[in-house]
Amino acid sequence: MSAPTRQKRLSTADISSLKGKQPIVSLTAYTTPMARLLDAHCDLLLVGDSLGMVLYGLESTLSVTMEMMIAHGQAVMRGASRACVIVDMPFGSYQESKEQAFRNAARILQDTGCDGIKLEGGAEMAETVAFLVARGVPVLGHVGLMPQQVNTAGGYRSKGHDAAEADKIRRDAKAIGEAGAFAVVIEGTVEPLARDITATLACPTIGIGASGACDGQILVCDDMLGLFNDFKPRFVKRYANLAGDVSQAVATYADEVRTRQFPGPEHVFQVKK
Ligand code: KIV
Repeated sequence: MSAPTRQKRLSTADISSLKGKQPIVSLTAYTTPMARLLDAHCDLLLVGDSLGMVLYGLESTLSVTMEMMIAHGQAVMRGASRACVIVDMPFGSYQESKEQAFRNAARILQDTGCDGIKLEGGAEMAETVAFLVARGVPVLGHVGLMPQQVNTAGGYRSKGHDAAEADKIRRDAKAIGEAGAFAVVIEGTVEPLARDITATLACPTIGIGASGACDGQILVCDDMLGLFNDFKPRFVKRYANLAGDVSQAVATYADEVRTRQFPGPEHVFQVKK
């Protein structure tokens, strides 16, 4: 009797090979139950450092730690069996030197078993990306709007509106692609620039707020599920209204507890005869 075939996880090479063939479907995931729900539908799950804001209520991603990324990377790996899982490197864990970047990237790969890491940065990070890739660390690049640079960039505004800025982002993406990234996230960038970069790079681009011209799309899962009432940027499409559903469900529960409708007889253990 032959053993049942276990579905194989998509590798970073599989993700690269989708360029020009089919759009890459990606979402963020931070927990085991959510990874289980997303896994069958997504090519790539990103344990993004956006978890600092989404799960921990932090102001920005800057105080996210290696420990947080590793704990959530492990949780997502327990829930995903098909999608390629990438874990973000947190601010301060890779910018100092390529050696620091390798040490922390290796720790993320070893402690979580994930398929690769993501780091933010343009031409200034190209040497680090090449260093990591040459030593067995698959890298997902991230250019355009880079949330870890919020303090120097003066906020979260979209990028590429003037020629100088567009040129810089074009050079950044090219440098990261040529350094060996298996794909590059383009965030918050005007459409013609994203289109141009996508046409030029050998590896796929994955857009968030960077138009349908990219080779794939990524959204923060909690945003597209409508888990926040107070946050709806232009680039997010809401596919559900879970915040509304949760409020409604909890209001009904509260009412039923107060009126002693819950628990009903079907929820109560009786002594077995
Ligand atoms: O941290 C994150 O979730 C990200 C994606 C939004 C690309 O970097």
